[in-house]
Amino acid sequence: MGLRIGVVGVGPVGDRIIRCIREQNIPVEGELVVIATRERTEILADEEFLVREVGPELFEGLDVVFFAGREGAKGASVEWGKVATDAGAWVVDNGGDFRMEPGYPLIVPEVNMDAVTGENKHICSPNCSTIQMAVAIAPIHRAVGIKRVVVSTYQATSGWGLAAMDQFEEEIKACAAGDEVNCDPSIFARAIAHDCLPHIDRFLDTGYTKEEMKMVHETRKIMGVPDMPITATAVRVPVLIGHSESINLELDAPLSREDALAILSDEEQAPGVVVVDGPSKDPLAISVREAPEELQYPTQADVLRDEYKDAVLVGRVREDPSVENGLNMWCVADNLRKGAATNTVQIAQALMQRGMLG
Ligand SMILES: NC(=O)c1ccc[n+]([C@@H]2O[C@H](COP(=O)([O-])OP(=O)(O)OC[C@H]3O[C@@H](n4cnc5c(N)ncnc54)[C@H](OP(=O)(O)O)[C@@H]3O)[C@@H](O)[C@H]2O)c1
Repeated sequence: MGLRIGVVGVGPVGDRIIRCIREQNIPVEGELVVIATRERTEILADEEFLVREVGPELFEGLDVVFFAGREGAKGASVEWGKVATDAGAWVVDNGGDFRMEPGYPLIVPEVNMDAVTGENKHICSPNCSTIQMAVAIAPIHRAVGIKRVVVSTYQATSGWGLAAMDQFEEEIKACAAGDEVNCDPSIFARAIAHDCLPHIDRFLDTGYTKEEMKMVHETRKIMGVPDMPITATAVRVPVLIGHSESINLELDAPLSREDALAILSDEEQAPGVVVVDGPSKDPLAISVREAPEELQYPTQADVLRDEYKDAVLVGRVREDPSVENGLNMWCVADNLRKGAATNTVQIAQALMQRGMLG
């Protein structure tokens, strides 16, 4: 028997969730129930769907509902998450509303699937930049222990939804045509074409942004390290899809570049990680493509390739001699796939494997 599945939200994340369901051959009973704020027909994941206007009756009888709506009081999971779980469904939620609430599991399947007990059927998927960092650093933490994390991000415009993707493309076209660039401050505070903005989400009184603090708090919750010192700088860059991160780790014990690469290249120790790290002269380095040695590192463009779209790519692994037991790495993932849709579909697959769903 297949699963009765709902998808709330038809932006880029909702589209990718449907793609992942199809690609993973998740058995679906009947039609996917696709939901947004108003009824219409839409092409999603190359299929035509009747998108239904959200209402309580749509959640009845569903086994699992993927939420990819907007956040906040009028957002999808605040308004409809409890309606879905009360109707008996599992909720797998891309939004940030419940991630840090006690009792709500915040899950990256490669790291902490055991935190799902079934007591609360509303499961949260972390922020996109947090997911890829957790996948990349958890294996190092398991192996030697992490004392401190310093991360700087380079995040794509699609992290702010469909409207931001459209805004970015309009700005690029205007620049190319020599026209004035009109920026919409409700999306990005300043024009993003040909610029980088150290500003993602709202500023807090501390001077940090909400996005930066999400990386701190969510990483601690996922990895079960409530006191781990973590500091983040989140930067929006003029890229459509894909987030990169420069991650600096201070470890509890020394770890050579070679040993770090051996851990990260081992599927059992580092599930979900693909190492793209030259030069290929190093027998422990895995070179995944033919390229000049100095180019053997992952970039945002690489995660658009079919073979990497669900992976967390790690490269530029090197010891950091400026601190005791320091290690640097570069980490890249598709924010719409592993940073959102893929992670949620993997959560549902893990529930199925554990006999909790289906
Ligand atoms: N983009 C990323 O990289 C990323 C990564 C991780 C997590 N997320 C999270 O994933 C969610 C979706 O992201 P997105 O980029 O796809 O957003 P988006 O482009 O803004 O799309 C949001 C969708 O949600 C629907 N929606 C909004 N409020 C709703 C409500 N109250 N009830 C039902 N449907 C509602 C909208 O419906 P209409 O089309 O009818 O307006 C729209 O289809 C957000 O919570 C976001 O924070 C995004």
